Amino acid sequence: MSLHQALQSAIHLALLAVLFLSPLALAVPSPSHQHDTPSRTRTRLNTNWRFHRFPTNPDNLVYDIRPDHANLSADSLTILKPYILPAANAFIADPANHHPVPAGAGAAANSTSSVPFAQPAFDDTAWEQVTLPHDWAIAGPFYVGDNVPVGGGMGRLPIQGVGWYRRTLVVPGRSDGQQHYFLDVDGAMSYAAVWVNGILAGGWPYGYNSFRVDLTPFLRRDGEENVIALRVDNPVQSSRWYPGAGLYRNVWLTTVGDVHVPFSGTAVTTREVRREGAVVDLVVNVENRGEGRKKVEVVTEVYELDGKTGREGKKVAKFETAAVSLKGAEKKTVTASVAIRNPRLWGPWTSQKPNLYVAVSRLYVDNQVVDTYSTEFGVRSVVFDGNKGLFVNGERVRIQGVNQHHDLGALGAAFNYRAAERQLEILRDLGCNAIRMSHNPPAPELLELTDRMGFLVINEIFDSWELEKNPNDFHLIFADWSEPDLRSFIRRDRNHASVIAWSVGNEVGEQHTDEAGAVVAHRISAIAREEDPTRPITASMNFAKPDMPFPPNFDIISLNYQGEGIRDSPAYAGLEGIKTSPLYPAFHEAFPSKLIFSSETAAALSSRGVYLFPVTNYTSAPVTDTLPSGGGNATSHQVSAYELHTANFGSSPDKVFTTQDAHRPYVAGEFVWSGFDYLGEPTPYYSSRSSYFGIIDLAGFRKDRWYLYQSRWRPTLKSVHVLPHWSWGAERAGQVTPVHVFSAADEVEVWVNGVSQGRRRVGKEGGTNGTTTSSYRFRWDEVVYQPGEVRAVGYKGGREWARTVVKTAGEAAGLRLTADRERIEGDGDDLSFVTVEVVDKDGNVVPRADTGLAFSVEGPGEIAATDNGDATDMTSFVSRERKAFNGLALVVVRGKSGAKGKLTLKATGPGLNAAQLTLRVQ
Ligand SMILES: *[C@@H]1O[C@H](CO)[C@@H](O)[C@H](O)[C@H]1NC(C)=O
Ligand SMILES: *[C@@H]1O[C@H](CO)[C@@H](O)[C@H](O)[C@H]1NC(C)=O
Ligand SMILES: *[C@@H]1O[C@H](CO)[C@@H](O)[C@H](O)[C@H]1NC(C)=O
Ligand SMILES: *[C@@H]1O[C@H](CO)[C@@H](O)[C@H](O)[C@H]1NC(C)=O
Ligand SMILES: *[C@@H]1O[C@H](CO)[C@@H](O)[C@H](O)[C@H]1NC(C)=O
Repeated sequence: MSLHQALQSAIHLALLAVLFLSPLALAVPSPSHQHDTPSRTRTRLNTNWRFHRFPTNPDNLVYDIRPDHANLSADSLTILKPYILPAANAFIADPANHHPVPAGAGAAANSTSSVPFAQPAFDDTAWEQVTLPHDWAIAGPFYVGDNVPVGGGMGRLPIQGVGWYRRTLVVPGRSDGQQHYFLDVDGAMSYAAVWVNGILAGGWPYGYNSFRVDLTPFLRRDGEENVIALRVDNPVQSSRWYPGAGLYRNVWLTTVGDVHVPFSGTAVTTREVRREGAVVDLVVNVENRGEGRKKVEVVTEVYELDGKTGREGKKVAKFETAAVSLKGAEKKTVTASVAIRNPRLWGPWTSQKPNLYVAVSRLYVDNQVVDTYSTEFGVRSVVFDGNKGLFVNGERVRIQGVNQHHDLGALGAAFNYRAAERQLEILRDLGCNAIRMSHNPPAPELLELTDRMGFLVINEIFDSWELEKNPNDFHLIFADWSEPDLRSFIRRDRNHASVIAWSVGNEVGEQHTDEAGAVVAHRISAIAREEDPTRPITASMNFAKPDMPFPPNFDIISLNYQGEGIRDSPAYAGLEGIKTSPLYPAFHEAFPSKLIFSSETAAALSSRGVYLFPVTNYTSAPVTDTLPSGGGNATSHQVSAYELHTANFGSSPDKVFTTQDAHRPYVAGEFVWSGFDYLGEPTPYYSSRSSYFGIIDLAGFRKDRWYLYQSRWRPTLKSVHVLPHWSWGAERAGQVTPVHVFSAADEVEVWVNGVSQGRRRVGKEGGTNGTTTSSYRFRWDEVVYQPGEVRAVGYKGGREWARTVVKTAGEAAGLRLTADRERIEGDGDDLSFVTVEVVDKDGNVVPRADTGLAFSVEGPGEIAATDNGDATDMTSFVSRERKAFNGLALVVVRGKSGAKGKLTLKATGPGLNAAQLTLRVQ
């Protein structure tokens, strides 16, 4: 029976139960219980690791022969694949396709016994001591120039090579009831293999997926020391962006007793969601790893969950107790349903609240709790309407989304909860309500955050299938791992309220291969549907057309750039490559019942605070540095922040808005490429380290584009934003310096040094001529620069609504430090992001300042990273010295683990008054 069938029959049984039982009525009285059980523990295993990176293969171990192994002698290699493949079996539906376990653990021990780093006795004291999450590449140094091992596409950082991580582990004896020990790895980049006391115990190749290794058979008990050795092997040319390197997410030690809920062992779904009530369906997997038969009672209670504190609140329901009898080494599934009265619904933050519940499942054997397993979930209905768009809990919700890569800027791929939360806070301020996880499974904690903060999520797994985008990418292992990776991913993330759809592929090559590609699409989407019959399956299409065999395999039409059209504006006329007019109507006609959204829009490019002249008259033009108004600078490798230029397949925000609005309401919204800048993929300047696509730069500073999106997504927020800055040197005096305004006002008037430049109405007099009129920005393209001030006033219904003044700044005189949080935890994780502004004597930011700055801290903390958002800056992210970029820099401060007290951050720069800021570490 598939999970789908299991769910269906559970639902039928449950309906009966719901009809006759009130939510709190119980068929079986509940045994009294402790809230926590000593038999399940989950501990972060993040400290006391020793690490060493070998830029080239040090041990002749390979998962399998890859193109980058051309120079290794095949005879001397040990291939790990046969020992790793069995880890996939739990996620392969057909037992006939399960991989044999090669002659027990001993075989693997024998075949790797010559590898010193795997052996317990190896002396690793000379290795670096590291704390996880750890990204070995982020400190650099950057590879600069051409013909380097890692170029701009992958972020110019030393991601390649083999990394070994080792640590000891002491566990108690069997008598305490904790009999099974699992290493739970949230992500390891990549081709992870794990040895316990010299024996190869498991692993997982795909660097973005979570996996579990059972340590139990290999552990010495009773206080004896065990050695865990984890090897990752990260290839060059394996990604279109910066992947990070090493144990870059959390690693946990999970202990359970014989009878327990296995990895990703629950599924909670909701249906018949109304204000008065909803039905919750629950599946609990139960496993008995002991020897004798066990009679197990499964008791699950539902509590309200406080999203801020993570604490349980009021109990609201209890599932009927289920009893199940398990032989030794047997697994069974228990299903139940319950009604919740007047549920507090989960919905996206713009208009609804992200209320959550937690289902606490307790397993009892002989009236003793033997396991407690918590599952957070939300009660919500999501309807995907082909004509009217997306409805959450009956309310139409426009998707105001962005794409986010997994890196956290200067902190790299190393996951950090606060850094992720900060990104979401900045996106929420923008008015963003949805995130597409492009193009890989996120850290589990990121989904906890999207649940709690109320973002809708498209959860995506693959960037390539069988056909390669890079020689060493996922296509090498697709045949073996597409099914297990997909099933494991969906089981891990299926209970998250924020996840509304699964994307099984991004711009895969199979779009181009007609029936052959469609066969793969069909297989992959069928697996996803089997794992989760409740959510739609999609794959993002930048090429497949409505009449091709690829799109019908998906439940949602997810378009990258094709919706608003590719290269179809006059400014793109001279470019080669595909040109398509907006395809929203053609897809809607071909698939009238399927929801359509744009999974990638815009691909606009800019460098924060850089303005290049002359300014194009077009609203959307490909960036080039060979035309005067092309928006790019061939010397500085910066792109103009007038926000009119895009990648050569893209469109400005203005053009996307126009097309989306022309095809309302059936186009459900967009995911902008991209929310934040990210490491790698620095179109159009591959000499750089990081992207130009972001609405927000790599340091988290708002580009001008931020205000264009905010004015559309939060139209009631009173704001007029003026660009460019008004602090030009003598060279611009008397020069045409267009003034553009982003505002949700319906009229704006601009004055330069008190002289009105005219009052303009949105969409009418906004542009210079017919081709340039934009309904989404106000522009005065003939303004002539003189130092002084630009004043802008926005009007609604003829009344003043918002105003702003931009003044010419004086000489740089000092620094201003502003922390996003002045109190942080002394836990070795928590961060304060401190913005450094170069200011004149009156406190105005000096918008072109590029002064070299230096930072230091005193007290219980350290500088984790610095940045400035400049895609061309090759200073290491761990440097305490950094130039300001257009007036700003960022210092990320981390509290020391176990420390408390005052921490002082000091910033200095030549010719500037030093500044300091005090933070409290608690
Ligand atoms: C193999 O070695 C040759 C010669 O040293 C070198 O040019 C080439 O880049 C190497 N190839 C790989 C995949 O390492
Ligand atoms: C491991 O090697 C030893 C010594 O060569 C041999 O006796 C043993 O059978 C091997 N074990 C396995 C499982 O291959
Ligand atoms: C924009 O158009 C105006 C009016 O046609 C023209 O005077 C101006 O030179 C153009 N500017 C650019 C940068 O092309
Ligand atoms: C391009 O960048 C170079 C180097 O920073 C600078 O000297 C030049 O003025 C820039 N050109 C324009 C048109 O801004
Ligand atoms: C508007 O400006 C564009 C770009 O400079 C130019 O190609 C076009 O001819 C102008 N259109 C009109 C009607 O003046």
